[in-house]
Amino acid sequence: MRAHPAGPLHGGMTPPPSVGLPPADLGALDPEVWPRSARRVDGELHLGGRPVTELARAHGTPLFVLDEDDFRGRAADFATAFTGADVHYASKAFLCGQVARWLADDGLHLDACSGNELAVALAAGFPAGRIALHGNNKSLVELQLAVDAGIGHVVLDSFDEIDRLVPMAAARVAAGGSPVPVLIRTTVGIEAHTHEFIATAHEDQKFGFSLATGDALTAAVRVIREPALHLSGLHSHIGSQIFDTAGFEAAAHRVVGLMGQVHQATGEVLGELNLGGGFGIAYLPDDDPVTPGDVARRLRTVVAAECAALDLPVPRLAVEPGRAIAGPGTVTLYEIGTIKPVRLGSSGHGAPQVRNYVSVDGGMSDNIRTALYDASYTCVLANRTSDAPPALCRVVGKHCESGDVLVRDLWLPSDVQPGDLLAVAATGAYCWSMASNYNYLLKPPVVAVRDGAATEVVRRQTLADVFALDAVLADVPAPSPAIDQPAPEHPVGARS
Ligand SMILES: Cc1ncc(COP(=O)(O)O)c(C=O)c1O
Repeated sequence: MRAHPAGPLHGGMTPPPSVGLPPADLGALDPEVWPRSARRVDGELHLGGRPVTELARAHGTPLFVLDEDDFRGRAADFATAFTGADVHYASKAFLCGQVARWLADDGLHLDACSGNELAVALAAGFPAGRIALHGNNKSLVELQLAVDAGIGHVVLDSFDEIDRLVPMAAARVAAGGSPVPVLIRTTVGIEAHTHEFIATAHEDQKFGFSLATGDALTAAVRVIREPALHLSGLHSHIGSQIFDTAGFEAAAHRVVGLMGQVHQATGEVLGELNLGGGFGIAYLPDDDPVTPGDVARRLRTVVAAECAALDLPVPRLAVEPGRAIAGPGTVTLYEIGTIKPVRLGSSGHGAPQVRNYVSVDGGMSDNIRTALYDASYTCVLANRTSDAPPALCRVVGKHCESGDVLVRDLWLPSDVQPGDLLAVAATGAYCWSMASNYNYLLKPPVVAVRDGAATEVVRRQTLADVFALDAVLADVPAPSPAIDQPAPEHPVGARS
């Protein structure tokens, strides 16, 4: 074989599809993957009791449709499984004012990873005492906001951060306030079986204090001796989209070990143990995530055993699910624009293989995860069902990148056509929150659906919003309606 001058990624033919055989029913909605309210009514996908064609007509596409009962139901499942512990929703997965209010009303805690996530939660009225602030590079402004708001915990991530926080905490104490409660984020050296970019507890990365080097113990001792800080406990987060509990159990073992060392070194008994998030979800029918109940049982057992071995009282547990609460309840609706059959070479029996590139009206600007992590998604024809034979497809966006892929390989009915709606499942976590304006595409709205009612909880970004940021264009009227806004006679589902 001759090496391709542009490198192996460009060489040869496109590899054969890794998609497997077509499913018996191309329109089926696997309940593990689709929102709890997802149904077909006369062939059309309904979410929260609303037909998708109506949602698309009213709000345009691309559109995030969030099943409120699914989101709140999964939050409640965690709260129930972890009764007596604290469930922090990791707001980086998806945050808006409405979601913050649901979580506040439902009694959960919330993690923010930046001052602005913290500001959103506070502005929505989320109780400050139930918020923790994460981040490997918190600025002075972010730390001051946390101290002034009186949040539940600052999760310390570096010695520099301790140096930054102490003077602010001391000023608060001098003014008659209480010491600032903190956790220490530890790096426990567990290699989570997940993508490198979402594995966070191996040694060679930017988060936390290493257990192996002794930094975590040094930090804990330092904080305990600092009167303006109160060390509530320890934190560990090993990664994301993890399907078994072994990594969490190993992490719990190591962090409880550190609690023992802290006790030995200082006599302090730490009262809290936060084991982070990372509980996987089903993006595809074959994915098999653990249930909140299983996770809770296993973690409680391990922590109790480790504490008994070290003669320590069992700390209050906390977990930080993001994806497992927000992910499965949201789907993204797109309208198909162009369809391009591309020949892949021979199937081996002489017949040419063809892949249909199905282009939709969004892409990597509303879902970067396939391009970034090689994430897997599934989607269905949403405005109708079809008996047409399956065709091998790749769902791609409209960006000027060949890596702008949403669903790498799947089977769709061979009669999908421009104007049809596609629904991509399980896009509630890390899609809207990672959205960009690449190619000046506009961020889609988020519509919450429940019991037949639809409420726009985040409106569509407009070109005027984007022009307003531009020094030259700020006063120039933006074309209206903006190019990606639905026209009144929007042809959604017109061919259904
Ligand atoms: C510290 C921390 N906690 C919780 C989470 C939430 O992870 P997930 O959404 O996978 O549950 C993350 C995500 O990376 C994180 O960094």
